[in-house]
Amino acid sequence: MDATKLRRAIARTPLAPVAAFPKRLAKVARYDSRVLGTSARWLFTSREHHNYTYDLTKLSRQHLAWFVSVACDVPVGQVRGWFAELEADETLRGHIEAATAASARRGLADRQVRYARRIGWYAMVRARRPAHVVETGVDKGLGSCVLAAALLRNTAEGHPGRLTSLDINPEAGYLARATPWADVVDLVIGDSIASIRALDRPVDIFLHDSDHSRGHEKREFDAVEAKLAPGALLLTDNVTITNVLAEHAERTGRRFLAYRETPAGHWYPGDGIGVAW
Ligand SMILES: C[S@@+](CC[C@H](N)C(=O)[O-])C[C@H]1O[C@@H](n2cnc3c(N)ncnc32)[C@H](O)[C@@H]1O
Repeated sequence: MDATKLRRAIARTPLAPVAAFPKRLAKVARYDSRVLGTSARWLFTSREHHNYTYDLTKLSRQHLAWFVSVACDVPVGQVRGWFAELEADETLRGHIEAATAASARRGLADRQVRYARRIGWYAMVRARRPAHVVETGVDKGLGSCVLAAALLRNTAEGHPGRLTSLDINPEAGYLARATPWADVVDLVIGDSIASIRALDRPVDIFLHDSDHSRGHEKREFDAVEAKLAPGALLLTDNVTITNVLAEHAERTGRRFLAYRETPAGHWYPGDGIGVAW
């Protein structure tokens, strides 16, 4: 009996899982050793302990460009141009590096500036030219800086806009407290639900990135509904964990799309962007 016939014969017997075990073990070990290698490198080269930063793989970046293109109805080439515009902004990069190095939390932050999926947030603000963006959850303020940079570019092109950034932690947002970015950012400290209810201007783009529990995310989208401008864009940073925004979109007659990012050279599996419009 030749080898193929023998393999097929074994596959029909109860011995099949035992015979396949070494090959399966080798496959999973190869995969896990890559993850372990990346994790070990990260443990000794990074200082971050949450809200990790990384770049996207080339493929993931391409998928993000198409995601923004579809959700904002703009040519994909233009979206790639906005990604490049943000990444070429040396003033912003230099500011983030310097503010990180000077901050009280520098021991828990990396020097390199890596935006990950936030390049998608940037492109959406460039595409939509909103008058008012609201971001819940600020942390160091990396996302706020990125959103503010897009608003400043829009302003220079004759489409002014402001960002309201909401966080419960009084120390949040230290990266976004310098000019020119701070000139378009209103940082509000307090629970996001109360802060959303107190908003006094229509919201064109809303981004949930605060308490990622299902209940809180839902309360934010419920609370902001009465504050939205016609045709507003709703974003969530929690789309790999919950289906809250998709359910909200279905209830309110909107369309919904999800993008899952792939970090380059990081053990963390990545987050994503959910968008409803
Ligand atoms: C994932 S971080 C935000 C990351 C940020 N958007 C960025 O781009 O890096 C989550 C933030 O949500 C804040 N947060 C948690 N619960 C909150 C609440 N109930 N209201 C407002 N902010 C909250 C935390 O203090 C934390 O800074």
